[in-house]
Amino acid sequence: MANRVTWITGASTGIGAALARKMAGAGDTVAISARSQETLDSVCAENPDRLHPFALDVTDRAAVAAVIEAIETTLGPIDQAVLNAGAYTKTPVDGFSAETVERMMMVNVVGVANALEALMPRMVARRRGAIALMASVAGYRGLPYAAGYSGSKAAVIAMGQSLKAELDGKGVKIQVICPGFVRTPLTDQNEFDMPFLMEPEEAADRIVDGLKGDSFEIAFPKRFALQLKTMQKLPDALFFPMIKKTVGL
Ligand SMILES: NC(=O)c1ccc[n+]([C@@H]2O[C@H](COP(=O)([O-])OP(=O)(O)OC[C@H]3O[C@@H](n4cnc5c(N)ncnc54)[C@H](OP(=O)(O)O)[C@@H]3O)[C@@H](O)[C@H]2O)c1
Repeated sequence: MANRVTWITGASTGIGAALARKMAGAGDTVAISARSQETLDSVCAENPDRLHPFALDVTDRAAVAAVIEAIETTLGPIDQAVLNAGAYTKTPVDGFSAETVERMMMVNVVGVANALEALMPRMVARRRGAIALMASVAGYRGLPYAAGYSGSKAAVIAMGQSLKAELDGKGVKIQVICPGFVRTPLTDQNEFDMPFLMEPEEAADRIVDGLKGDSFEIAFPKRFALQLKTMQKLPDALFFPMIKKTVGL
């Protein structure tokens, strides 16, 4: 499994950076992407033989295609991609902002699609490769104050499900990753107590384990994911009163 070429988007901070460090430490050649060249460079400086910066904005379709071409030219065919770049901003009813929703949809959903458009044909032609899409347990069911974020992550989960049915048998593995709360710059803005909060390094361990397996969904921490899965299956008449009580509405 070592010496794979892995590409991780959103790997300048948080979960993506922790995953990149871990995979590079295990012997992968890891291309990391995010918008901030400076932050990518400082992560790569920790392990310059294994970590390689490829700055991009995932919402720029041409730039995504160009970076995939550049990675494959300089490092070799991408064996594994983790499409992790993401954004989160609250979208409460009070002051609801379509612009904020649009920004999250662009990064979380269209950004993933931009990478898939350029990457899937290459992997399908080689009949080899693995792609993991970063979703969230927040995509299981629409959560209060998170219409934009939950909506974007539900879209990512559905996108992965659609693609899996088609990619099976083509030699390309597709998975979705559904973490609970992880302490990163993204969640630092949350003012509430985050249940089962884990550190990015622990999340990276869970993701690496999940990527080795064949389960379509990599969900953690197990107890929290199970609670939200159960909530997903509740009838509306039970779900809405329960979620309102949970968030104090
Ligand atoms: N933390 C959690 O509790 C949690 C839970 C479930 C799912 N997730 C998901 O996990 C992923 C990583 O989040 P995180 O918590 O690790 O947050 P983070 O530390 O804020 O990381 C976000 C990463 O995405 C990059 N990024 C943002 N917009 C981008 C764009 N337009 N183009 C390219 N890169 C972009 C950021 O770098 P630049 O700003 O330099 O571009 C950064 O590297 C996200 O998809 C998030 O939704 C997080």
